[in-house]
Amino acid sequence: MLIQGNSVHTPRKELEIGGIAWMRLTQFKSEYFKYQEVVCADVFCGTGRNDVQGEIVDGSPLRIMNAYRRSCNNNVNFKFWFSDILPEACATLRTLIPPQSNLSIKTMAAADALNALGNYLHKHPFTLLFLVLDPNGPKDFPRQEAIHLLNQYSPRIDIIPYISATTINRCIGARDKGGITFKGWLGSIENFDEGFVSMLVKHGRMGWIREPIQGDKQHWTILPTYGHFFPKSDWSKQGLVDVISDRGRKAIEFYNGNMGGCNEGI
Ligand SMILES: C[S@@+](CC[C@H](N)C(=O)[O-])C[C@H]1O[C@@H](n2cnc3c(N)ncnc32)[C@H](O)[C@@H]1O
Repeated sequence: MLIQGNSVHTPRKELEIGGIAWMRLTQFKSEYFKYQEVVCADVFCGTGRNDVQGEIVDGSPLRIMNAYRRSCNNNVNFKFWFSDILPEACATLRTLIPPQSNLSIKTMAAADALNALGNYLHKHPFTLLFLVLDPNGPKDFPRQEAIHLLNQYSPRIDIIPYISATTINRCIGARDKGGITFKGWLGSIENFDEGFVSMLVKHGRMGWIREPIQGDKQHWTILPTYGHFFPKSDWSKQGLVDVISDRGRKAIEFYNGNMGGCNEGI
């Protein structure tokens, strides 16, 4: 059985994915939620299990399924889509989640998964997509497909885009050493006014970013939740701030290497 090896920061990430998913799926019980169906999709789903220094920690697909059970949301139909490019990861995940008619685990590149999900939204106008994006790094991330999908179906997509600060900081190291400039996805994150982050908060979607935490400059994952409902205030206690607030902008500057913009006491 393939188990993902992971960093000491993984448990916190998994806790956040599970916690945010639970909050969102519970919010979808609201009388203001107007969709008949929710597709929960995790297109970099991994094996479902992490080994963090010998401790087994549930991965995002198991967190999502648990969030669904805990939300007790019987008002809407749910479907679950888990996909990963590695057949072994999907095979392991199949051993952890019992088969059910509303759930599929597919070996598939994320770009193809996003296109298939777009087709599904096209054919099902009363479906909302709850999308988890957790790539290892920019090279695996189908940025064009993601931007296209998010723009095309903006009012019908809530998203948890986990983008590792570690990856960005590695690139910052390379930039500082070799005079390399940001390109593509990273460059777009850096440019707040036109880039990927600002696209996430277009069309009425609100977004929350995690502020950097003292002593943990390299590892925090930075973009927790973008959706159509305001997150429950508890999340501010967890260090999440509105991305278009001054604190949110400072957090983005920090993650992009502008240390002067960071409030290190948080
Ligand atoms: C950070 S891990 C995901 C972990 C998982 N979300 C969790 O929390 O347990 C990234 C995953 O992306 C997969 N991957 C890498 N490139 C991919 C691609 N182009 N399309 C789909 N999956 C890919 C890897 O096999 C790996 O399982």
